This record gives sequence, C-alpha cells and structure tokens, in this order.
Amino acid sequence: MATKAATAPTGTGFTLFLTGLSGAGKSTIAGELVRQIEELHKRQVTLLDGDIVREMLSSGLTFSKNDRELNIRRIGYVAAEVTKHGGICVCAAIAPYRSSRAEARERVSRYGRFYEVYVSTPLAVCEQRDTKGLYARARRGELKSFTGVDDPFETPTAPEISVDASRGNVGDEVKRILALPIKDGALKKAAGSA
Ligand code: ADX
Repeated sequence: MATKAATAPTGTGFTLFLTGLSGAGKSTIAGELVRQIEELHKRQVTLLDGDIVREMLSSGLTFSKNDRELNIRRIGYVAAEVTKHGGICVCAAIAPYRSSRAEARERVSRYGRFYEVYVSTPLAVCEQRDTKGLYARARRGELKSFTGVDDPFETPTAPEISVDASRGNVGDEVKRILALPIKDGALKKAAGSA
C-alpha cells in the first residue's frame, strides 16, 4: 500500500515573487517562506532562488540587461508551470527590470495568483552587510554592472507587499506575506491558528 504523503502535493497554485537588491535578504525570507508553508500549511513548495537558478537553469548567462531579462523569463516560465499544476512557487532573484517582472506576472496570472514581494532593504544596509564581499569588489571596479552600484534597479511601483529585511523579525514578516494568499483563499490557514 502506498504511504500517505506528509504534505498534500497540489492545491490552488500561486507564486510569491521576491525582488530586491543583492544582500537584501531575499534568500533568507524565501527559506523561511518555504519552511512555514511546508511545516505549518502542509503544502510543498518549489523554490527558485537566484543563485541556484543561475547554476541549474541559467548557467552561462551574464549580468547584461539581455541576460538578466532571459534569466527572469525562465524563472517566470517555470513559476507559471508550477502554478498551473496547483503548486506553490517561491522565486527570489534581483529581477531589476520592471518589464521582466511584469512579464512574469502576466505568465503566472494565467493560472493563479502572483504576489510581487519587494524586499526593500536599503542599498546602504545591503552594502554594509556585504555578506559575499561583492559590493566592495564592485566599488573597487573589479566587478562591472553590479546592481545598485553601476547597474540599475527599477523600484517596484505596485508590489503586493514590501518587506524591509533589516527591520523586524523574519518569521513575522513571512506571516505578513502569507496573509495575502490566505486572504485570497489560495492557502489554508495553519492548523490550529485563529
Ligand atoms: S538577476 O539580475 O538576473 O535577477 P540574480 O538574482 O539571478 O540576478 O543573481 C544575483 C546574484 O548574482 C547576486 O546575489 C550576486 O551574488 C551575484 N552577482 C554576480 N555578479 C553580479 C552583478 N553584476 N550584479 C548583481 N549580482 C551579481
């Protein structure tokens, strides 16, 4: 007899699309989103984290405008497929161009809700943290076209929600984000929550 899956494989599909500067905290928030959705809401999640996508789906792409757009097009395509099949997709990439984000929204929205989550941690904070040392390299001119230094980031004008990861507690911010699909009926409340 087949064993019962610990988490329900399908439900109402939706995508949480995190955008923001390098070092803004997107991966941290994405990781906590996955954890809470899987543990508290008993749904499986596909995580498309920028660093992993660039290794698995977009290896060979540069950080030129064209390649960044192509990278986000691929992410949007996969997110739409996941959403179409009733899954939950969490994307976390810089996605610096409004047009790319709009395209991802358009693709996903054919099948389910698309929530743009702007991780709005200020540049000064990202740069001060500089966990990967990339801002320092960019300032020294060793790394060209670095977002926020010598490459643009087009601020989202109408995200569903903004989160500043330098303030507040990540777990609470994630609860605030998940309140959106819960309100829309795409995600059931956590078992035992009010
Ligand atoms: S995006 O612009 O195409 O959306 P993506 O999220 O995939 O970017 O990758 C960003 C990560 O690549 C950064 O967190 C950083 O570690 C690394 N990186 C390397 N070069 C650059 C660059 N020129 N600009 C931004 N990030 C870079």
